Amino acid sequence: TTPPKKYVIGVSQCSVDIWRDKLNREIKTCEYLDESLDIRLASAHDNSKQQSDQINAFIDQGVNLLIVAPNQYDSINQAIERAYAKGIPVILYDRKTSTNKYTAIIGADNYGIGKTMAYYIGEQLQGKGKVVEIRGLNGSSPAIDRHRGFVDGLKRFPAIQLVASEIGDWKEESGMRAMERILAKTQDFDYVFGQNDRMALGALKVLKKHGLHHRVRFAGVDGLANHGGGLELVRDRIFDATCFYPTQGEKVIALAKNILEKKPYNRVNLLNTTIITNKNAATMLQEAREVERQIGNLEILHSEVDRYFEQYNYQRIMIILFVLI
Ligand code: FRU
Repeated sequence: TTPPKKYVIGVSQCSVDIWRDKLNREIKTCEYLDESLDIRLASAHDNSKQQSDQINAFIDQGVNLLIVAPNQYDSINQAIERAYAKGIPVILYDRKTSTNKYTAIIGADNYGIGKTMAYYIGEQLQGKGKVVEIRGLNGSSPAIDRHRGFVDGLKRFPAIQLVASEIGDWKEESGMRAMERILAKTQDFDYVFGQNDRMALGALKVLKKHGLHHRVRFAGVDGLANHGGGLELVRDRIFDATCFYPTQGEKVIALAKNILEKKPYNRVNLLNTTIITNKNAATMLQEAREVERQIGNLEILHSEVDRYFEQYNYQRIMIILFVLI
């Protein structure tokens, strides 16, 4: 029998997708390397009601700390406030909420991402042209912030017009539907900014279907290393650019540990982003795949150790039985 872990951390993710898989794997790796941690992962499948229930269930299980990526800005406040009132520290991660009853927040500057992408696109178009935007899930804070940043950034280029901005939900299919809606209104645009790579790719697929993709350029956000993900799309010049949206599970867990151990920590923790173009995409892809390989090795080692302990316990029981008989 293994001794009970010291700290139970409940992680409530808003969605299931490759970005969150990457983050969850990083978080799990921290658990493997730290004996004091018992980390429980859950996902709300883009449903705020489900996420509230999930947080309430974690509270009732008596977790020592909560990490929450809120599906939407306004809709899970009650559950978060309930945890906070019970003295359970809450770390908001990646997405924000409108309540200020939380312990700390960690994530990238989504307003800044929108602005950076507007500056980049403006320069690519040499200050003149028509742009469309595909936004993330209605009411989720990065969708709100990236849009604000994008609109503000475009103000630097008076001859660039944002001719359409359609809502999506962060998934590829929503990018497809948004592009169909845009095409029903206009076919006259030069650039697509997808608030993430998956939606930008969905938009590209629809434009391809209509034979319109050659005269349009693309940029997204996330920059993941999976096959068909942002890094490959930029390396292969299918997209002009993407913005790296960091996962950094180890920083999230380090923050959680500081809070749990009553060590000093910052309430607001900003994660760095960087723009990825054809100049750095190949290098970033190589580095990201190397990290993934190492995480994969750790996962293998971990399951080997588990198997070893199972065998060991089994043999011990057999010996005890043998002695008793
Ligand atoms: C992953 C994701 C990313 C996006 C982020 C915004 O769940 O949809 O693609 O950048 O969430 O919170």
